[in-house]
Amino acid sequence: KDNSTVSITVVGASGDLAKKKIFPALFALYYEDCLPEHFTIFGYARSKMTDAELRNMVCRTLTCRIDKRENCTEKMELFLKRCFYHSGQYDSLDNFAELDKKLKEHEDGRVSNRIFYLSIPPNIFIDAVKCASLSASSANGWTRVIVEKPFGRDSESSAALTKDLKQIDHYLGKELVENLSVLRFSNLIFEPLWSRQYIRSVQLIFSEDFGTEGRGGYFDHYGIIRDIMQNHLLQILTLFAMETPVSLDAEDIRNEKVKVLRSMRPLKLEDVVIGQYKSETRGGVVYPGYTDDKTVPQGSLTPTFAAAALFIDNARWEGVPFLMKAGKALHDKRTEIRVQFRHVPGNLYKRNFGPDLDDATNELVIRVQPDEAIYLTINNKVPGLGMKLDRSNLNLLYAARYSKEIPDAYERLLLDAIEGERRLFIRSDELDAAWALFTPLLKELEEKKIIPEYYPYGSRSPIGAHYLAARHNVKWGDLD
Ligand code: BG6
Repeated sequence: KDNSTVSITVVGASGDLAKKKIFPALFALYYEDCLPEHFTIFGYARSKMTDAELRNMVCRTLTCRIDKRENCTEKMELFLKRCFYHSGQYDSLDNFAELDKKLKEHEDGRVSNRIFYLSIPPNIFIDAVKCASLSASSANGWTRVIVEKPFGRDSESSAALTKDLKQIDHYLGKELVENLSVLRFSNLIFEPLWSRQYIRSVQLIFSEDFGTEGRGGYFDHYGIIRDIMQNHLLQILTLFAMETPVSLDAEDIRNEKVKVLRSMRPLKLEDVVIGQYKSETRGGVVYPGYTDDKTVPQGSLTPTFAAAALFIDNARWEGVPFLMKAGKALHDKRTEIRVQFRHVPGNLYKRNFGPDLDDATNELVIRVQPDEAIYLTINNKVPGLGMKLDRSNLNLLYAARYSKEIPDAYERLLLDAIEGERRLFIRSDELDAAWALFTPLLKELEEKKIIPEYYPYGSRSPIGAHYLAARHNVKWGDLD
């Protein structure tokens, strides 16, 4: 019989992330019977709330995939009974000591394992970690603290902040990102092509069709490069580009990822284009610009869009541009990895293509979200007596192929945290190497007060992004 218990304390329980992601993910894990037999969930935040009020709040925001199923009310009630609340300051040893007392009551003499999920702004991470570990760490089991990026603003602050913490990047928990290694290492047809010999460019594209509405206070301090590129997109890049790890063990994978980062050139000003969205009126609706947001300081130069060209100087990838593009308030929401292959040498069908042979190269697209998919663009003969070619897709659309809903990234991350699986967590040497690539550029952008290129809310992207790609002899694949 299992004599241990896991207590999960969501610090910052009344915040957006907790409501939208953490509690729903915990409920989904409970629904799927993935939580241990004995577990307790505590919400911790400054506002005064009773257990019943917390349950009410959680209940209203269980908007996860499970929520769509029928017959989950009973499970939801059982889950809510395991949720409690403690009100306290984030920097109070005493308040955390009170929490410790309550946790002990629930643990009822069992081996106590504790997770603290810090769903609070980064500037109070350190205090909260100190207080939680001094006043409320487990006396006879393990204690794990989870923090989400941004871990600092540059190399120095990151090093100070992240010592001894578990850092997550929720993009690593996404289904299609998990699948990247499966695709590469368990199919004979991809790995032999996975190098500069056959791949002309790799593009990592993140776009959102909404601005920073209401999150300006946080966002303005960081900007899109720190918010998305230096972590989410860079993590995908390292998984994409790493050598075959010795095994699937977390350390082996992270060893390979860090090698990729250390083979990369730190970014220079000429490798990037930055942008900021401005207000736009469409169909009589006014979409506010970034600086129209009350939480954003007037005249802010913080980029809400960035495009960058990165290079990995190793035998596999030398000379292949890895283009990244990330932006808010663009025309659609998507995250994609696009792999553009080289031309077919001596192509027999050259004259059957239009004037631009680039239009005939193969492209492999891994669509991380929404409408998860993997497709490969190939050239094909249009049926008929003539010899006309066109481009078609070999298409694996997840919704058509799999009936099971795709778990939210946070479910996987929380489960891994409970089970002590480190594969999806960022090791501190990885983080150091990631910051080393971006810190000089970020400092230069700020010191020189580089003015972003303004783009209308809802547009495709600032024009500079096209010039950047053109300088490297490629086109963005998502604009076809
Ligand atoms: C977060 C960023 O890490 O990721 C947000 O801080 C962004 O700015 C979000 O909106 C996107 O995550 P997802 O999972 O919705 O694509």
